[in-house]
Amino acid sequence: MQPDLFENSSNDESVHPALNALHEKLQQLRQAIRRHDELYYVHSRPEISDAEYDKLFRELQALEQQHPDLVTPDSPTQRVGGAPLAQFKKVTHEFPLLSLDSEMDEESVLAFDQRVRRELGIEQVSYTAEPKYDGLSVELTYDKGIFVQGATRGDGTIGEDVTHNLRTIRALPLQLRPGKAFPAHVVVRGEVFMKLPDFHHLNRRLMEQGEEPFANPRNASSGTLRQLDPSITATRPLTITCYDFLSPGSGRPSTHFEAVTCLKTWGLPIPQFRRQCPSIQETLEFHREMFKQRDGLPFEIDGIVIKVDRFDWQQSLGEKSRSPRWAIAYKFPPRKELTKVRHIALSVGRTGALTPIALLDPVEIGGVTVSRASLHNVEEVARKDIRMGDTVKVERAGDVIPDVVERVPVPGEKRGTPFQPPTQCPVCESHTIQDGPILYCTGQTVCSAQLKGSLEHYASKGAMNIDGLGKKTIAQFVDEGLVRNLADLYSLRKEQLLELEGFAEKSATQLIEGIEKSKQAPLVRFLIGLGIRHVGSHIAKVLANHYGSLPAIQNATKEHLQEIHEIGPEIAASVECFFQEEQNLAVIQHMKKLGLRVQEIKKMSDRTGQPLTGKIFVLTGTLEGITREEARQKIESLGGRVTSSVSKQTDYVVAGKDPGSKLDRATQLGVTILNEEDFSLLSQGGNR
Ligand code: IVH
Repeated sequence: MQPDLFENSSNDESVHPALNALHEKLQQLRQAIRRHDELYYVHSRPEISDAEYDKLFRELQALEQQHPDLVTPDSPTQRVGGAPLAQFKKVTHEFPLLSLDSEMDEESVLAFDQRVRRELGIEQVSYTAEPKYDGLSVELTYDKGIFVQGATRGDGTIGEDVTHNLRTIRALPLQLRPGKAFPAHVVVRGEVFMKLPDFHHLNRRLMEQGEEPFANPRNASSGTLRQLDPSITATRPLTITCYDFLSPGSGRPSTHFEAVTCLKTWGLPIPQFRRQCPSIQETLEFHREMFKQRDGLPFEIDGIVIKVDRFDWQQSLGEKSRSPRWAIAYKFPPRKELTKVRHIALSVGRTGALTPIALLDPVEIGGVTVSRASLHNVEEVARKDIRMGDTVKVERAGDVIPDVVERVPVPGEKRGTPFQPPTQCPVCESHTIQDGPILYCTGQTVCSAQLKGSLEHYASKGAMNIDGLGKKTIAQFVDEGLVRNLADLYSLRKEQLLELEGFAEKSATQLIEGIEKSKQAPLVRFLIGLGIRHVGSHIAKVLANHYGSLPAIQNATKEHLQEIHEIGPEIAASVECFFQEEQNLAVIQHMKKLGLRVQEIKKMSDRTGQPLTGKIFVLTGTLEGITREEARQKIESLGGRVTSSVSKQTDYVVAGKDPGSKLDRATQLGVTILNEEDFSLLSQGGNR
């Protein structure tokens, strides 16, 4: 199918003949700067000196200052603009951003290939292999070649609008390369990251200014991308690489490899290394080569990504709820270094668990300075027999807190005394008890460390998502005695916040508003927020779907809970125990008195029997009377599910205007195709 291609010949349309010369000059300068940006930031092949570049830039700035009405948003001068934001807007992704299953060894990769070949019924499958950049995934939208929106991954369905920050990334073109054909609307996927020299430079600068350095380049990228003030982002050197694009209603080349080549043609930065591999064997070779090169690269990669190359094959394989069945990450083994343990500290979490942390002589592991590593629990310290002064092997895998792997005996090294698990909590001095391998503080109601942890968890993104309520603020609330339990959050007043360091009228108002907003609490989020042992996001969903309301869950017995698929005896006991505890009930009661309303949802048992229960939908093309998101919500509220690619499992393809190749695929597979009217009838309860 021919894509609805668009040619970005020029963005500066002439308005009046008298202005032609000026327009031309502006356009010339902008094109020249864009070209030099690309040469410098994308290809690392500058053709002019910094001074010459600055001259061009200043010339453009001066002309634009004289003619502010001729400034276009995609002008290179407009990368940093706008006032700091109060908060990020939420963005619903046009296509869900999937994650990848990870494999650590060759055997598992061969098993992946075997499954792929079996499912496709094909002897040999070709792949594309690319480095797996260790950064943050983002989605970039270009309309008619102009960069209009950029968003973080978020939970894969809804991310945050970080357009203003992405605009500051010089490697990212604000305009696709003129003269090239590209889809009128295209969504590009990529990874934002920070090069190692830039990361070290940034950390040095932060320390000179008396600020905390970032633990690793990935944290630095994430902190920078989620900066509310774009002028700060602009001083922090992010870069980007793009690895895929999607565009509704228009064809793509037939392979992933070619698709990435298209990105390059449009002026977007793409992975520095990539390889089209005729079979899985060549991907293994690519992994070996990249592993050897890894330490010499100026950026962090934590493995390679292996993708089935042909799009029609990708479509046949389809996807699971969070990851495609046509791609995997083949990770590198974690990096290890030797260093010395200076001290073993204990950190108290929200459950009261005391986690021993090894404080280390700082050591560089893969470009990152490590000075703390987890020892997990007291039993592990005893088992590994780690003592102060010992030489140990420390391992760092990606973003997670480094691990002490083992003690390395050094001949002649004098050892300290064995680690003694404390009998008292280092924070509240309540006595400790050991449950299995873990040591717990028993001061649930008095321990400020547990309280801080519980509040942080309640307010966190995955739970109640209260903007502005982070670690630092929570510590202030607890240390000042303003908050003694979860319910106290809801009796905070603005005047109290204004007395605290770091709060001004605006920030105090915003936080109070954020807390107020959280009073309308979705059941699943609230359940996660309570921090009941063994109840994470998945089990919270299971409970909510089964019972529909908080009182119903509160009253459920262990026996009843256990009858639910996916709820075993341990979870059931933990849920029952939580809601039998008087103090927990009193806090929830108090929260309700202060205005908390935990929303009810329709129970799964009431949902079955509806026309869409268990049905899988794919949406393609533009729907006119309803947005994609509304259609998705409608389908889900009726028990159906929406996926992004057509496979044998698909029950219905809803085709709007200008449908894409998904429609062809549906026809091939004999999947029922609905137009918008059919869909509307079906979702109103009619049947087909
Ligand atoms: S493809 C559906 N390619 O790794 C395919 N991802 O663990 C999704 N990443 O969220 C991703 N380099 O942030 C792909 N060359 C690459 C990548 C890459 C880094 C990240 C990306 C993704 C995560 C998955």
